[in-house]
Amino acid sequence: MSYSQYLPRRPRRLRRTEGLRAMVAEHQLHAADLIYPVFVLPGSNQREAVPSMPGVERLSVDLLIEEARAAYELGIRSMALFPVTPMEKKSLCASEAFNPDGIAQTAIRALKQALPEMMLIADVALDPFTSHGQDGLIDDDGYVINDATVEVLIKQALSHAEAGVDIVAPSDMMDGRIGAIRDALEDAGFVHTCIMAYSAKYASSYYGPFRDAVGSAANIKGGNKKTYQMDPANSDEAIAEIALDLEEGADMVMVKPGMPYLDIVRRCKSELAVPTFAYQVSGEYAMHMAAFEKGWLKQDEVILESLLAFKRAGADGILTYFAPAAARLLKG
Ligand code: PBG
Repeated sequence: MSYSQYLPRRPRRLRRTEGLRAMVAEHQLHAADLIYPVFVLPGSNQREAVPSMPGVERLSVDLLIEEARAAYELGIRSMALFPVTPMEKKSLCASEAFNPDGIAQTAIRALKQALPEMMLIADVALDPFTSHGQDGLIDDDGYVINDATVEVLIKQALSHAEAGVDIVAPSDMMDGRIGAIRDALEDAGFVHTCIMAYSAKYASSYYGPFRDAVGSAANIKGGNKKTYQMDPANSDEAIAEIALDLEEGADMVMVKPGMPYLDIVRRCKSELAVPTFAYQVSGEYAMHMAAFEKGWLKQDEVILESLLAFKRAGADGILTYFAPAAARLLKG
């Protein structure tokens, strides 16, 4: 006779079949949860690989429209745009950031015309436009000057709103920028433009491949962003930063990077109960891809598991370079 325990509580009962597992699943990943970050090149018919992000291509606007249509077909409903500015357009004053005919502004107009249903998110920060690669204007010591930077960010956000963007996403971490941008949008009559604040953005080393992609890595020359982005040691501070951005008029907030910071996502959702987004950043993408390429991790399963973890932590949406791959998998 085989050994048998008397166990009224057997948690494995609910795991025995696919049907039971589906019945008790607490969280689900949907294509509409995915926000697709893309790098935009000037010109037309341009396509460039990003070596540290295998599978990611920088595209000119004409090709980006095709990419957006394909993503929409897969169920993706929003894209985040990151312009790749040529070196000769970068400067100390970052004036290219608010050029009405800049790469981001042009892409917003073209995409909105081609595919109005796709929600567009425009990054508000100066790093793609400064010759030194910092997110703001600097003084003689290289310190990023807060209020003078905010003045430029306002112009940049307004130029995105004028181009028809749905959501502006300040990723610069200057103090007071959400309130200043909100006031400027209201004053200019852009009362429907949403603000997704990169509220808890950490001074992370996981952003390296992104800086390669937008061409700011070489400019920043081994420098860092620790005087404005948050210290990875801190968690209470993230809640305070998020609360401040909400007070100033943010409609949605973001935690960044993603997987190493899911505790912050959970705290944000539990303590503040607001639309909460998280960014699975370029370094997270790169390390996954490296393991897939080595055959050390199974690509499809790991992509979906990594994204479901964000939902479980409380995220309402995830910015991820895996968006099209994940949406394709979800489609079956
Ligand atoms: C720019 C910005 C960065 C990212 C998004 N917006 C880089 C940085 O702060 O240096 C990183 C995204 C990624 O790594 O995928 N302010």
